[in-house]
Amino acid sequence: MSAKLVDWYDRHRRVLPWRSPPGERADPYHVWLSEIMLQQTTVAAVGPYFRDFLARWPTVAHLAAADLDDVLRAWAGLGYYARARNLHKCARVVAADHGGRFPDDEEGLRQLPGIGAYTAAAIAAIAFDRPAAAVDGNVERVLSRVFTVWEPLPASKPVIRDLAARLVPDRRAGDYTQALFDLGATVCTPRKPRCMLCPWAEFCLARADGVQEQLPAKAAKAEQPTRYGVAFFVTDRDGNVLLRRRKEQGLLGGMMEVPSGDWTAAPADIAAALARAPVGAAPWRTLPGAVRHTFTHFHLHLIVVAGRVDMAPPVPDGVWVPPDRLGAEALPTVMRKVVRHALVHLTGGGASEVG
Ligand code: ADE
Repeated sequence: MSAKLVDWYDRHRRVLPWRSPPGERADPYHVWLSEIMLQQTTVAAVGPYFRDFLARWPTVAHLAAADLDDVLRAWAGLGYYARARNLHKCARVVAADHGGRFPDDEEGLRQLPGIGAYTAAAIAAIAFDRPAAAVDGNVERVLSRVFTVWEPLPASKPVIRDLAARLVPDRRAGDYTQALFDLGATVCTPRKPRCMLCPWAEFCLARADGVQEQLPAKAAKAEQPTRYGVAFFVTDRDGNVLLRRRKEQGLLGGMMEVPSGDWTAAPADIAAALARAPVGAAPWRTLPGAVRHTFTHFHLHLIVVAGRVDMAPPVPDGVWVPPDRLGAEALPTVMRKVVRHALVHLTGGGASEVG
């Protein structure tokens, strides 16, 4: 099976920014960087970020020497900011403790910050041709079909991992691993898999039974909860906008935000929230509508209130940012939405006055 898949890869491999030319080994730094970026993000979204990072920080030593804020700013938009912090931490450990070279096996890679079982296996296979089984969501889908694993995810993970480990070839494990990613991305897609084009069609039990679209089986998903909050979009006389750095721990740790109070299970009480505003501003105006954003485990519903101050007072962890510099701040996506929401309403009118 692995030989058929690698043959297919030799003919149909995708050209991706982090891939080496056929027959060459990829730079471990490129492989590591791309794998961290690709977690929970699409190949198309990662391309420009990957190129930008390499242009700024061509080697792991450059990245290790970078300012964390610059890294977070370059990462902004990819989400999961703890990954960017770990990325930086990992670069420092590789530079300081490993002479700038990544460990060349799974066990060594696993010791590094931000590198879990999947990432260690992917790097070991792709950068060092180790026969390691990297199992991501694509691989789970492909294997659950090929072997008709009916147990729903995530309970089926150990079974799938075991199947994956048995399939990895001793030779060209890196190409095999990338072939499996490509197969999942281009042929064995979540909907309407192109079985006619599949190098594993002859082995695939799901195809034989005509059930490929019913796999992988999924357990009924619990409704994600919604949390509610209020964001304070405050400007001074010159139009500077108040941003604040979030505390290091927790979601979006250390990222800049449009100051917002706690995010709670009950819909926001605006009057109560205003009592805990980061600055005294008058009048506060509640902007129509709300900003919605979905995180991994919950939906967020943010009401935006806008306020003006004459003099910009100092605010703990806060900075007053000129409007044309907002784009350069390390604002996570949800906060970009808040800024856009506020600017649309404040320049387009339609806000109601409160407080
Ligand atoms: N998904 C995760 N890692 C990947 C890679 N190296 N190439 C393509 N898709 C991927």
